[in-house]
Amino acid sequence: MFTLCTVFVLFLGVVHCQFPRVCTTSEALRSKKCCPLWEDGSPCGSRSGRGKCRSYVVATTFAAGQVRQVADDRLDWPRFYFNSTCECFGHFSGHNCGQCKYGYNGKKCDRKKTVVRREIRQLSFMERKRFFSYLALAKTTKSADFVILSTGDRHHRDTYRFVDASVYDIFAWIHYYSMKPLLINGLFDDSRNYAHSGPAFPGWHRVGLMFLERQIQILTGDEDFAIPYYDWRGEKNCSICTNELLGESNEQGFLHDNSHFAFWKSICSGYNYADAYCQTAGDECQMERLHRKPGADPTVKSFPSFKDVEDTIKWSSFDTPPFNDSSLRSFRNALEGSLKPSDGVTLQLSMHNLVHVYIGGTMSQVPISANDPMFLLHHCFVDKIFEAWLLRHKATSDNYPENDQLGQGPDECAMPYFPCYRNKDLLRSSSYVGYKFSKYQGM
Ligand SMILES: *[C@@H]1O[C@H](CO)[C@@H](O)[C@H](O)[C@H]1NC(C)=O
Ligand SMILES: *[C@@H]1O[C@H](CO)[C@@H](O)[C@H](O)[C@H]1NC(C)=O
Ligand SMILES: *[C@@H]1O[C@H](CO)[C@@H](O)[C@H](O)[C@H]1NC(C)=O
Repeated sequence: MFTLCTVFVLFLGVVHCQFPRVCTTSEALRSKKCCPLWEDGSPCGSRSGRGKCRSYVVATTFAAGQVRQVADDRLDWPRFYFNSTCECFGHFSGHNCGQCKYGYNGKKCDRKKTVVRREIRQLSFMERKRFFSYLALAKTTKSADFVILSTGDRHHRDTYRFVDASVYDIFAWIHYYSMKPLLINGLFDDSRNYAHSGPAFPGWHRVGLMFLERQIQILTGDEDFAIPYYDWRGEKNCSICTNELLGESNEQGFLHDNSHFAFWKSICSGYNYADAYCQTAGDECQMERLHRKPGADPTVKSFPSFKDVEDTIKWSSFDTPPFNDSSLRSFRNALEGSLKPSDGVTLQLSMHNLVHVYIGGTMSQVPISANDPMFLLHHCFVDKIFEAWLLRHKATSDNYPENDQLGQGPDECAMPYFPCYRNKDLLRSSSYVGYKFSKYQGM
C-alpha cells in the first residue's frame, strides 16, 4: 500500500548499516568522522533536534593495552574507521539521524508500526509472487546508501577499498564480513568471530534481518513487507524446496533453471581466504551460482523436531561460560546448534547449525550462506524461537553476560551496524522494534 507515510520514508532515505556511502569519501575516512548532514543542513540533523555528532566511547571488554596491538578493523566497532558518529535522540535513527528507529514511522517518527512475519506457506499466491519479485528487485538494484569493503590483503590498510553492491548483496556481505577470522597481532584466529559462537548470535542476526526488511520496504514502497519464515520443525525433507517456493536443485546441486533464484550469484564466493575481504565483489564472472543439496549430507538425516525446539526454549540461562560452542545448559548454544537441546550437556550438531548443514551447498558454507534466500527464511524462524524464549523467560538486557568473545561484550556495538546497537540491548521483545510473528503449527 502506497500511503502518505510511505512517501515520507522514501523521501527520508535509508540508513542503517555499514558502510554508509557518504562516510567513505577520503575526507570522511581521514577525519574519522561519520556525521553526515541531514536535510536541514546540519550534521546528524542537530539543528532540528534529531541527534548530535558525538565522539566515540570505548565499550570493549578487551583490555585497553591489548586493543592497541590488535589490528582487526572490526574490533571496538566502529572505532577503526570512525571516532565520531551520530547519536540520535528519541525515535530518530540512522547514520545521519534521518530515519526512524525500527518500529516507528512518520515525519516525526512518532507513529508506532508493527508488521507480521508469517510462515511462507501462510502467504497467498499473490503474496508469494510479490515476495519473490521484491527479492529480485533487491538483488538487482544498486544500494544508494551503502557500499561494501573489499581488500586482497587485510594486513595492509592502504589496500582497503569501498565498492558498490546491490541491496541484497549488502546484506549478504554484512554476514560475510562478521565471520572473517579475527586478525590479532598479525595472525588470523578463525575460532571466533563477531556474530557466532557466543552470546551475540541471536541479537546480531535479528538486526541483520531487520536491516534487510527495512531496505526492502523502502525499495518497494511497501511498508507492510515482512520477511517470511520457514518453520522446519519435524520436516522429513525440505518441503519448500520446490520451484514454486525456494527452488529445486538439479543433479549438480545448482538451483533448477525454472526456480526463482536460478541465476543468482553469490557475492564473495570463491575467495573465502582469511586475508581477503570479498575481492570478487562486482565481478559477475568470478561468482558462483547458488547451490543446495538438501538431505545429501550423511551426517544429518532430518530437521530438528518439535521437541528439540521446545527443549531449547526451556533453558532459562541465556548463555553460560565459557560463552562459546562449548557452553552447557545454555539457551544460546542450544539454539545456535552446538548443544543437544534435551540434556543441555552433550555437545553435538543441532538446531540452527544443523539446518545449515542439512540444506547444504551455499547454505553450508556459512560465511557466504546469506547469499541464499533460504538463509532469510531459516533465520527468520530462528528469530521466532529467540522471541519465544525472550517472552517465556521475561528476559531483559540484564540477562546478557559479560564474556571474553571479542565484539560480543554487553556494551559493545553489534558489528558492523550503524548506528550502534549494544549487544545487551538486543535482548528485548521484537514488539519494541516493530514486528511480531504469526502463529503456526501451535507456536
Ligand atoms: C579522531 O581521529 C582523527 C584522525 O585520526 C584525530 O585527528 C582526532 O583527534 C580524533 N578525535 C577523537 C575525538 O579521538
Ligand atoms: C519430500 O517427501 C515427500 C513425501 O515423501 C515427497 O513427495 C516429496 O517429493 C519430497 N520433496 C522433496 C523436495 O524432496
Ligand atoms: C571454549 O572456551 C574454552 C575456555 O577458553 C576452551 O577450553 C574451549 O576449547 C572452547 N571451545 C570451543 C569449541 O572453542
